[in-house]
Amino acid sequence: MLDIALPKGRLGERAHAILAAAGRGCPEILEPGRRLVFENAAAGVRFFWVKPSDVPIYVERGAADLGIAGKDILLEHSPDVYELLDLGIGRCSMCVAAPKGFRDSGERTLRVATKFPNIARRHYAGRGRPIDIIKLNGSIELAPLLGLSDVIVDLVETGSTLRENDLQVLERFLGISARLIANKASCKFKYRDIMALAGDAAGAAEGVCAK
Ligand code: PRP
Repeated sequence: MLDIALPKGRLGERAHAILAAAGRGCPEILEPGRRLVFENAAAGVRFFWVKPSDVPIYVERGAADLGIAGKDILLEHSPDVYELLDLGIGRCSMCVAAPKGFRDSGERTLRVATKFPNIARRHYAGRGRPIDIIKLNGSIELAPLLGLSDVIVDLVETGSTLRENDLQVLERFLGISARLIANKASCKFKYRDIMALAGDAAGAAEGVCAK
């Protein structure tokens, strides 16, 4: 049996669709309700829904053998896991954005609001720009509108949130997508099952992404 942590929400549903196409789905998972654990004994998989940013914690500590996590979360938290596969879903970019017309004069510390302090810190350290990180947990776009920050470092998918709040992208510096990750010990002890699943998921992901 392989235990798989799925991120709650649309990304998790799309990841499950790939695993179902790879013969490892669990049909009941799509039924409405509050259940968190779903098993398909015949296919040798058990799924559980977790908060997206918690997926690497379950996998790193071995509570799950496998998980689906965005590259943004992996880069931010650097969990000690194997990254087996780019599923090609949940594609977006990590960007610096600011109110239209903003220009960084470089004269004072730049105030950066973000859910991703480590990614933001690394990005600006790479160019030697002193910054003050303001860690927020959501609705990051509000920060520069209310004068809490000069810029934001955040994910941009369609760009609508920025457009509707009169912000614009200054830099797109990372491509992001969902990854299949694995616990290191599980990769030793369940090697064949994990590699078989990853191989089938790779084939299925190509089909899903091509649609
Ligand atoms: C994410 C991200 C942006 C938005 C980008 O937020 O932080 O706010 O999606 O998507 P778009 O380019 O398609 O508009 P999320 O929906 O996760 O909510 P949050 O603001 O509460 O983090």
